[in-house]
Amino acid sequence: MCGIVGFVGKQACTSILVNALRKLEYRGYDSAGIAIFEGERIKTVKAQGKISEGLEAKLKTEPIFHATCGIGHTRWATHGEPSDVNSHPIGNGRVSIVHNGIIENYREIKAFLTSKGYGFESETDTETVAKLLDYYYEGDPMEAIEKALEDIQGAYALGIIFREHKNKIYAVRKDSPLIVGKGDGESYIASDVTAILEHTREYYCLERGEIAVLDERGIHFTDMHGEPIEKELQTATWDVESAQKGGYEHFMLKEIHEQPEAVKNTLSPRVKDGLPDFSECGLTAEKLREYKHIFIVGCGSAMHSGMVGKYLIEDLARTPVIVDIASEFRYRNPLVSSGDLVVIVSQSGETADTLEALKLSKAKGADTLAVVNVVGSSIAREADMVIYTNAGPEISVCSTKAYAVQVAFMYLLAFEVAYSRGKIDEEECKRLTAGLLAVPEKIQMCLDDMSGYQFVASKIFNADSLLYIGRGLDNALSMEGSLKLKEISYIHSEAYAAGELKHGTISLIEDGTPVIVAATQSALFEKTLSNVRSVKSRGAKVVMICRESEAIDANCADYKVGLPDAEDLFLPLISVVAMQLIAYYTAVQRGCDVDKPRNLAKSVTVE
Ligand code: G6P
Repeated sequence: MCGIVGFVGKQACTSILVNALRKLEYRGYDSAGIAIFEGERIKTVKAQGKISEGLEAKLKTEPIFHATCGIGHTRWATHGEPSDVNSHPIGNGRVSIVHNGIIENYREIKAFLTSKGYGFESETDTETVAKLLDYYYEGDPMEAIEKALEDIQGAYALGIIFREHKNKIYAVRKDSPLIVGKGDGESYIASDVTAILEHTREYYCLERGEIAVLDERGIHFTDMHGEPIEKELQTATWDVESAQKGGYEHFMLKEIHEQPEAVKNTLSPRVKDGLPDFSECGLTAEKLREYKHIFIVGCGSAMHSGMVGKYLIEDLARTPVIVDIASEFRYRNPLVSSGDLVVIVSQSGETADTLEALKLSKAKGADTLAVVNVVGSSIAREADMVIYTNAGPEISVCSTKAYAVQVAFMYLLAFEVAYSRGKIDEEECKRLTAGLLAVPEKIQMCLDDMSGYQFVASKIFNADSLLYIGRGLDNALSMEGSLKLKEISYIHSEAYAAGELKHGTISLIEDGTPVIVAATQSALFEKTLSNVRSVKSRGAKVVMICRESEAIDANCADYKVGLPDAEDLFLPLISVVAMQLIAYYTAVQRGCDVDKPRNLAKSVTVE
């Protein structure tokens, strides 16, 4: 996830900015840069790669004057590959900006500015904001910011400098976080307090619709119309180390909490006029109408997202979908050919088996669509079409937010396939899309109180083995829940279709065996309950994950994890949060190394 810093004071700012950027390295990034006031101009130095190898190496070769104000950025690529030119700060000499978030309507803004004679150097959405500010700037930065923000849709935090307003930083935000630090005769902006803790613990949280103006005299807050506002000063109590994880004990917990924003960032750029839109990568409705078969291929959690995709696409679009594990697909001479679509899913974009599955599909003449998180990765470069999932960097080995965004994309894909094939009409497609866009709020509701997950974890953490069961979409979800638990807690667990238990696996149930039941699908609820009764009567300790409103007989379940109400279709994307958190707290209670589980690697680039 990108990081923003800014400094204004009396000291030389270059090393302050670079050190602050280093503190944000934990967020993950692929390039870094700074822009500082130097004499009468803005000087920008930026480079792809690690701060030490790229930006700092470049700074050593540049003559740097004594500058006391500047902005800096670590970039995690979303629009445009990691490169020097796509790095931030971005501007044109008159205005320079650093940006976190995604500008959804950047194509429209770019077309408008192009018609006004502007040219563009980078592939970023950010450059459109820099040029838009320049377009509106007629001497008053506040007026330019106010006008530009009226045109911009999406999520953003921005640090802005104007050449003609020397040693002043303007900061605004919507959705992406930004804080303003208050030091002794100096001020800062930063994506989080980690970046400035060595200088000050005092900071303000910038809220949506507020503008902060920082200069040598101090910090001044106004609303969008320039009316002054008073803000409450906060004091950070974190130590530097815990702040690296944004105050969370583990990256996994932090990444679980990032899911509402991550899902929003995946979905919103792909919805136009209330309908799914994949024109960015050339996946048109015509193509989706014509494909003979749809394959979804990946490893681990990525493959599990495909299982959800299969249920959704087959149900809504009445089109058969084949889901496969990449290491199996590549060696079984799959029945893929020209006229088929192969969806290749991978967080890292580097998984060796998945990459080979992609190459094989291309060699067999199929169209390939990569659904990847890391921009410019091997799979993204190799595929015919790419959708970036925009989850930001995932550091914990155990995938959480990357899975959630893959699943979120599967929903949109299913809606678009169904719509393009006439299986749902425009009204229904819009209704479903609106329902999906409301899911992040429901995910947030699952994140507001941890006590239920902690309680369940306290009841299962001593188990030697357990089962996850569910039917339909809940079955697909259980596979991911079970994988999370075994990855990080080292408890043996197995996911099983609830109705299939009686054909063998039920023999594993003995007194006290925990069984985690996903029961979110109304049509299958009673069927699942009868499976629950049969494991309960054999001594199982049952944990039900279902709607909070569902009345569960105490003879049936020992513990209930309640979910917010939502349409059946969307509940798997919400209930996965409960599965992740049960796994997380179980691993914590067992004293496991949550972020770096034994024997596992984040990116598996060997067969
Ligand atoms: C590893 C990770 C899993 C991940 C899988 C696929 O096994 O530990 O969490 O799901 O690789 O990774 P990819 O980067 O291709 O999604």
